[in-house]
Amino acid sequence: MARAPTTFTCSACGHEAPKWHGRCLGCGEWNTLVEEPRAPAKGGGAPAARAGSPVRLADVKAVEVARLTTGIAELDRVLGGGLVPGSLVLLGGSPGIGKSTLTSMALGNLAGAGRRTLYVSGEESAAQIKLRAERLPGAALEVPVLAETDLDTVLATLDAERPEVCVVDSVQTLHAADLTGAAGSVGQVREVADRITRLAKARHMAVLLVGHVTKEGALAGPRVLEHLVDCVLQFEGERERTYRTLRALKNRFGSTSEAGVFEMRQGGLVEVQDASARFVGEATRAPGSVVLAAMEGSRPLLVEVQALVSPSELVPPRRVANGIDRNRLALVLAVLGRHAGVGVGSADVFVNVAGGVRVDEPGADLAVALAVASAARGIVPGDEGKPVASRASAVTKQTGQTGQMRPIACFGEIGLTGELRSVGHPERRLAEAAKFGLTPAIAPLGSGRKATEAATLRAALRAALGAAQSSERSARAA
Ligand code: TYD
Ligand code: MG
Repeated sequence: MARAPTTFTCSACGHEAPKWHGRCLGCGEWNTLVEEPRAPAKGGGAPAARAGSPVRLADVKAVEVARLTTGIAELDRVLGGGLVPGSLVLLGGSPGIGKSTLTSMALGNLAGAGRRTLYVSGEESAAQIKLRAERLPGAALEVPVLAETDLDTVLATLDAERPEVCVVDSVQTLHAADLTGAAGSVGQVREVADRITRLAKARHMAVLLVGHVTKEGALAGPRVLEHLVDCVLQFEGERERTYRTLRALKNRFGSTSEAGVFEMRQGGLVEVQDASARFVGEATRAPGSVVLAAMEGSRPLLVEVQALVSPSELVPPRRVANGIDRNRLALVLAVLGRHAGVGVGSADVFVNVAGGVRVDEPGADLAVALAVASAARGIVPGDEGKPVASRASAVTKQTGQTGQMRPIACFGEIGLTGELRSVGHPERRLAEAAKFGLTPAIAPLGSGRKATEAATLRAALRAALGAAQSSERSARAA
C-alpha cells in the first residue's frame, strides 16, 4: 500500500501516528494530533546542502523601511507606527467583534492613499463585503476583493496582483487541496499561513491575516500561528457592547505594551482617544462601583468596576465575572472573606468592568475587592461610610450642590495573606486618576504622595468604606 502523503504529529510531544487519534498514544494528551505533510525521506550521512556564510552583525545592512500608515491612529500605534512592508500580522478575535470591519477600514484608507491593496475573503461573498464597505468611511469601496477559499487560487492571485497590502479573511476558511483535513483544522491553518508567509516575504507584501478565536482562545487556529507571524494582534470586547480593545501580544517591530480602544458605531469603528474620560464620566458612583486605575500597555486607563452582591437560592451561589478573570474573582472573594471580614459565601456575586473592557492585570484585584465589599455593605466607596439614603443631603451641605460625589480610584494586587502588593507604573496610574480629580487614590505602599497608601486589604477597605465597614460587619453577616 502506498504511504499516505500526510502524517499526524502530536503538538505536545512530537509523537507521530499514521492516522488521527483523539488522544496521543505517546504522551496521553487529548486533541493534540495535527495533520502535516509527510517529510520526504532523507538519506543519511553528510549534509548535502552548501554551507552558508555567517555575517558579523555590525556588517549587516539594515534598510530603513517606510511604514505603511493605515490611517487608523490606534491601529498604527499598536502596530508600532504602521504596517511594515513584507510583514505578517495576525489579527485574532471572536466572531462578530469587528475584525472584518477594522481590516476593511484599514485597506480602504491605504487604497485611498494610492496603495495597491487586495481583500481576500473566504467568509463572505463580494456582495456582502460591498454592503459592509458602503457603511464605512473613506475609500473602502475602492478596494479590490477576491472571494475565494482555495489556497492555490489565492496565492496565484496574490502573485499576479502583487498588492502592497493584503487582507486574508480568514485564515480558517482557506483550504489547501493537498491536505486532507477540513478547512480550519490545525494542519490546514498552519499550511495556509506558512505558504502565505513565504509568498509575502518573497514578494514584499504586508499581509493581515484574520483569525477567529473561540471563547477559550485555545482551539485550532491562531494559537498555532503565533510563532510564524511577525505580529499578533488581539481584538477584544463583547459583541453586544460598543467598546473594543486592540492589543499586541507579539510584535517584532514594536512594543507589545500598546493598546487601542475603539467604539463600534453605525459607520464602522471609531477610535476612542480619551477613553478614561468616557469611562469616568459614565461611572455610576453607587454602592458597588469603584474606578480602577489600570494600565493598558504603556497607557494608563481608568475604568469603572461594578459589583452586585445579592442573596442566592443556588448552591453553590453564582460567580459571574465580565471583563476580569473568573479565577481572579474567586481568589479576591476568598481573601475578602478570610482576611477582611467580608463574607459573601451565600450570595450571588456579579462583577463587571463597565463598557465591555477587559482588564487582565493583577492591579485590578483591589478594585474588584472594593466593589464587592461596597456592594455587600451598600456603602458608596469614599463616602466615609455614610449609608446611601443620607448621602445626598450630606453632599448638598458640603458642596452646596446636588451633584454626585466623585468616584474613588484604586489599584493594587491582593496577596493570599490579605496584603496589598505593588504593581507596575503606580506614578502613571496616579497621574491619570489625578487628571480627573480622583485623588487620593487607594494604592499599595510605596505608590507615592498622591495616594492613600494601604498595606493590607483590610486597611484599604477602611480607607474606602470608612469605619462603618468594620462595625456593620457583624450585623450584616447575620
Ligand atoms: P465584523 O467586522 O463582520 O466582525 P468579524 O469580522 O470580527 O466577525 O462586524 C461585527 C459587527 O459589527 C456586526 O455584527 C455588525 C457591526 N457593525 C456595526 O455596528 N457598524 C458598522 O459600521 C459595521 C460595518 C458593522
Ligand atoms: Mg468577519
